[in-house]
Amino acid sequence: MVANWKLYNVTLEESKREAGDIARAAEGADCEVVICPPAPLLIPVKQAIEGSSVKLGAQGMFWEEKGGFTSQISPLILKDLGCDYVIIGHSETRGRFGVGSVKEELLPYFSETDETVNLKTLAALRAGLKPIICVGETIGERRAGKQDEIVSYQVEMALAKVEDINGVVIAYEPVWAIGTGEFCDPEEANRIITLIRSKVREIFGAKAEGIRILYGGSVEPSNIANFMKKENIDGALVGRASAKAETFAKIIHYKEP
Ligand code: 13P
Repeated sequence: MVANWKLYNVTLEESKREAGDIARAAEGADCEVVICPPAPLLIPVKQAIEGSSVKLGAQGMFWEEKGGFTSQISPLILKDLGCDYVIIGHSETRGRFGVGSVKEELLPYFSETDETVNLKTLAALRAGLKPIICVGETIGERRAGKQDEIVSYQVEMALAKVEDINGVVIAYEPVWAIGTGEFCDPEEANRIITLIRSKVREIFGAKAEGIRILYGGSVEPSNIANFMKKENIDGALVGRASAKAETFAKIIHYKEP
């Protein structure tokens, strides 16, 4: 269960408090728990989860390790800070927001592309980080019946030149389901995730068996069990409902009533 905090917890105080509470809630959980805070909050969150089973992840990074790249975050920094995971190709960093206040003409500034997602995936693996690669179609693409084609293409592009699939995590996040409260029907999410699994199998053969594929998009305590019941869904990438420990704890412990 991955908590993508996005920009929901923004102060030191709330980040340390919520991370500490999530660490306590994760004790005895039946799943691996990861928190991905905004980059400047990685260290305080790391301190707050110290000694617990919770893992640290970043929300993004650059593909180059060092050099004249103002404002970018190196995979080497993330590794050194103790990150195990890094989110790559989130629709919000691809400039494909589900909902939001950012003007249409400014979207190209959030311009991760299939090519840079691939460069980042390769760089993360080189640095010993586990990439959580996000894929998913927009509402327009779904209305045009293109979701299978889009998702398949994004997976193939992200994994180009990857030699060892070990440690790669893929998250199916339909853009229209992100932050909208309008979650994907679990049956349909399972269908797309099954498609992703067969795509990965097509490329990597038997080595693909261990890969974890998550669902993301308006996951809540009230719907998580319906996703986790599906045979091909291994976990969830949770946004809004992951920022407060009280809510996220219910997702981690979804089996309990
Ligand atoms: P929400 O859970 O807020 O819909 O966000 C999902 C997501 O984008 C996680 O990465």
